[in-house]
Amino acid sequence: MTTMKQRAGEAALDYVSDGMKLGIGTGSTAEAFVRALAPKVADGLSIIGVPTSERTRELCEELGVPLTTLEETPHLDLTIDGADEIDPDLALIKGAGGALLREKIVAAASDRMIVIADTSKIVETLGTSFPVPIEVDRFGLASTRNAIEKAASQLGLSGDIVVRTNGDAPYITDGGHLILDASFRRIVDPERLAVALNVIPGVVEHGLFVGLADIAIVASGTGVEIVTASGGK
Ligand code: A5P
Repeated sequence: MTTMKQRAGEAALDYVSDGMKLGIGTGSTAEAFVRALAPKVADGLSIIGVPTSERTRELCEELGVPLTTLEETPHLDLTIDGADEIDPDLALIKGAGGALLREKIVAAASDRMIVIADTSKIVETLGTSFPVPIEVDRFGLASTRNAIEKAASQLGLSGDIVVRTNGDAPYITDGGHLILDASFRRIVDPERLAVALNVIPGVVEHGLFVGLADIAIVASGTGVEIVTASGGK
């Protein structure tokens, strides 16, 4: 039986054409895309991909999807990636899988970004069911955390900000940083929060993706819906 994630991953193939340079996302839905892409490549589809995590790199290598790096290929045609939450403007929360830094760099280097997800990821307001992951340098962690709390409070936001763990140890990203998961709940203006987080020293990147996604392919139990931003982006 086809799962919703597989349905979304397979539908994304319609947007992939011969010769494309692709950003390849991270997470279970992005994995479904890679698993759908690999047989097309084996059948002769010529693409080259930049993986957004070591996990995705290993999967692509295992399945024979050819890879490059942003150093060799700094400009990409299309990134296909999952998301944790998608709002009506196609602003996203990403990073539950810890790959947000590379995911954002790769998406920003691409002409287009397509988000693939199932219906559970659609929200009216970001922050409803997922915290915002904030990738931070280990140096000055307490100060950075305080600065995040202060910046959020100036926007009327508050909530737990906790260091992500992996068993008993802190979770370490591919870039060697920590992640703070900030449960701000209702983020009415994600762009303002994104800008406020961007200027805090010690914040390497955050999981608010605003203005990056062009369309979302949202799979349900029966089919897929192509969602564009409500503002007509
Ligand atoms: C990885 O860091 C994330 O941004 C993922 O893209 C996101 O968590 C979606 O993952 P799933 O497709 O596994 O839900």
